[in-house]
Amino acid sequence: MAGKSKILIIGATGYIGKFIVGAAAAAGHPTFVLVRESTLSNPEKSNLIQSFRDFGVNFIPGDMYDHESLLRAIKQVDVVISAVGYAQLNDQDRILAAIKETGNIKRFFPSEFGNDVDRVHSVEPVTSVFQHKAQFRRVVEAAGVPYTYVSCNFFAGVFIRSLAQLGATSPPRDKVVILGDGNTKAVYNKEEDVATYTIKVVDDPRTSNKTLYIRPPANTISMNDLTTLWENKIGKKLERIYVPEEQVLKDIEEASSPLNVRLGICHSVFVKGDHTNFEIEPSFGVEASELYPDVKYARVDEMLDQYV
Ligand SMILES: *[C@@H]1O[C@H](CO)[C@@H](O)[C@H](O)[C@H]1NC(C)=O
Repeated sequence: MAGKSKILIIGATGYIGKFIVGAAAAAGHPTFVLVRESTLSNPEKSNLIQSFRDFGVNFIPGDMYDHESLLRAIKQVDVVISAVGYAQLNDQDRILAAIKETGNIKRFFPSEFGNDVDRVHSVEPVTSVFQHKAQFRRVVEAAGVPYTYVSCNFFAGVFIRSLAQLGATSPPRDKVVILGDGNTKAVYNKEEDVATYTIKVVDDPRTSNKTLYIRPPANTISMNDLTTLWENKIGKKLERIYVPEEQVLKDIEEASSPLNVRLGICHSVFVKGDHTNFEIEPSFGVEASELYPDVKYARVDEMLDQYV
């Protein structure tokens, strides 16, 4: 394993964290996770914890609110990947403080894994969420810690699985709700591929202090085209219900949490086109499928097959 960075994942048992742990171990990186004792003994997490053990992952008991455990974990590694969830986003300065104190980290990944929060055209309450992430970027940059921001756009396990219908657990078979005119393009990536690309950049100097955009051409598609693709697979036309922006904005105002946040993200992506309405300039970003053409990523077309 000479030359492979040691990686610590914080938020390892969360939605995307578990895939990153798997990808780090599969790529042969010595992999460390900071996990609470209560998680280790939680029966609902036992299969996941066992899979980590099978990968040979190193467990460090603790959490980001226990500074000593954070220091102990960070001292043993070269790279820190934060995959903490929504509720802990605003506490990531604790991780950064520990990184500054130990001084040994070659790359830090703040928890991102969504839109590029510096390039969004959202409305409240989502704007505040995006702004918190953007503000933390500025704090990381000011700290002089090398970083990579992973902008992976939509998780396929949520948005392909539901064909972007809020609350749905399978693609619709009768009617589809489309925000805006359905022509803006969004990007969908399988969770395993997001994790694979994230681990690829760890030791790649081309991605230092850059945003990694996961925007593969085959997975960049409008709602109109995605709907047609699905219709062709099931051999049936769906009723398309278009919701104009004014109505979407009204719905966001009237919805309660967390629906207003979800709707707000869909407004940013489907109405404003925030996954794709800017060029990736070499000064600030790199695109994953261009950088790593050897990765055979899952394509939207084939991902839909499992739901037919
Ligand atoms: C990234 O930024 C850090 C901190 O400013 C710096 O030490 C490092 O050399 C930069 N990396 C590259 C590849 O420029």
